[in-house]
Amino acid sequence: MCGIIGYIGERRACEVIVKGLKRLEYRGYDSVGVVTEENGKLYIKKGVGSVDEVVERLNLLDMPGNRGVGHTRWATHGVPNDINAHPQKDCTGKIALVHNGIIENFAELKKELVEKGHTFESDTDTEVIAHLIEEELKSSGNFEEALRKALLKLKGSFALGIVYTGEPDRLYFVRNESPLVLGIGDGEMFAASDVPAFLEYTNKVVFLDDMEYAVVTKDSWVVKRLETGEEVEKEVKTIDWTLEMAEKAGFPHFMLKEIFEQPRVLRDAIHGNAKVIRDVAREIANYSKIFIVAMGTSYHAALTGKYLLQRLAKKVPIVEDASEFRYEFEDLIDENSLVIAITQSGETADTLAAMKLAKRKGAKVLAIVNVVGSMATRIADLTLYTHAGPEIGVAATKTYTTQLAVLTMLAIELARTLGTAEEEHLKELEEGLRRVPDLVEGILNLSEPLRELAEELKDKQNFFYIGRGIDLPTALEGALKLKEISYIHAEGLSAGELKHGPLALIEDGVPVVAIAPNGRTFDKMLGNIEEAKARGAHVIALGSSERLEEVSDTFIRMPDLDEILTPIPYIVPLQLLAYHLAVLRGNDPDKPRNLAKSVTVE
Ligand code: F6R
Repeated sequence: MCGIIGYIGERRACEVIVKGLKRLEYRGYDSVGVVTEENGKLYIKKGVGSVDEVVERLNLLDMPGNRGVGHTRWATHGVPNDINAHPQKDCTGKIALVHNGIIENFAELKKELVEKGHTFESDTDTEVIAHLIEEELKSSGNFEEALRKALLKLKGSFALGIVYTGEPDRLYFVRNESPLVLGIGDGEMFAASDVPAFLEYTNKVVFLDDMEYAVVTKDSWVVKRLETGEEVEKEVKTIDWTLEMAEKAGFPHFMLKEIFEQPRVLRDAIHGNAKVIRDVAREIANYSKIFIVAMGTSYHAALTGKYLLQRLAKKVPIVEDASEFRYEFEDLIDENSLVIAITQSGETADTLAAMKLAKRKGAKVLAIVNVVGSMATRIADLTLYTHAGPEIGVAATKTYTTQLAVLTMLAIELARTLGTAEEEHLKELEEGLRRVPDLVEGILNLSEPLRELAEELKDKQNFFYIGRGIDLPTALEGALKLKEISYIHAEGLSAGELKHGPLALIEDGVPVVAIAPNGRTFDKMLGNIEEAKARGAHVIALGSSERLEEVSDTFIRMPDLDEILTPIPYIVPLQLLAYHLAVLRGNDPDKPRNLAKSVTVE
């Protein structure tokens, strides 16, 4: 996730852009860049660091011109460095652009462009877009047409702000699966990833939809379809948010905003790994001694990964919390071992220590990480990114579901490489996974009913979360979310374990959250629910079967899908329930007590 902002009008563009970048910094903070234009010349300044650091070091407020675009980066392709910072430009230096999103087919496009003689400076996927427009411009001569033709060749997600010296009175903005909104001023126009970037100047906005682009001058704007170039009628909306509300896109907390971002970041995770996953699967396919290490929420993703690898790739990995791994497995790791480390931050001390140990012993190390360039990516031999963008809320939400998406893709691809599952089933799973972001979108509509449920449950002292098989880790993660932000005691356990002791704690009104999708263990789950009910539990069941609805006190209807794909959608209501309980109990879910976003001590 990155932040983009553009301005055209009478003011000094650099001032408006720098202010906007400051407000967008939560979207990315590894590098910053601005391009302005005056008298047919582009002025570009960019570099690694926070907005304040780069503004001061490169004097960003000293750039001429009344039009330009800016970018705050959260690296996806190419490590954070000065060259990879945006804007990126074409060979002629006449086209400069900033980008938020991921271009899936950039490697193929780059190869073709290099063969045609284009010279690339950076490792980014973004630079391909500038060269592609340049190439199309050679044959069409009309910039807008060249832009359309070029962008129709892209696969993936992109929000773009584009400056072209050949057309001195305008800017172009494009949106596909990454957010972009126009700000309509009086004799000036704005565009940004998010409203707060320009809210100081105007509250009149036009939201672009996927595959739309805008041509903006200081006095006019028009939105068109990318496929056809036809004009689209758009409504100008008036925003009545305060600046603080706007930074959270109207949500009261970052955590809720991040829960709601999941459909989009899941799409990014799928796009972002579509091509690389095959190579990674091939590189690790022959390892039979596999360890998965992680902490906290990432550990729950690791546990889900174990079920995925077992079921699809017929591998039996050992999953250990990284703090235990070092002391228990040192003698067992060798050059025939594969260690998969899962970490959002890439900086968790225990996970890094486990990775270093694995390297020392000659093991192959694959990291699944959110923060590009973090320590974990430097230790690992191979890295898969989750592409969730910065997570500001301390409790992990969107980074968890994107970890699950990457693990699902990896298990599918491993199964394909090894021939351990029917190709037809793997294809169905891939198609199903591509539909999961839409399903999650639907589940987000449960937020209000879940808030009402939280009202009912907010004074409870203990919660139990039960699940089986691939959804046991969902129960553990649901319980962790509740503990860490609502401070209610919660236990996640396998439903089968319930009658081996914990049932003693189930009495009248104790909430038992049962994760019960249709699948191998559904009938057994029904039995466990009955056991809990017989002791007076308030059973909150997540599933899609009518039988489940009949036995539960509160039924949370979920989409019916292959059991393998259930961990992603099923955690979403549990994130929402924990969030609403935390808020109703007067806690700030963004800053839970005694927990840091990145735990850098062992
Ligand atoms: C829970 C949470 C923590 C982290 C854990 C690992 O919501 O945020 O449990 O999951 O500290 O962090 P990473 O994934 O950065 O290694």
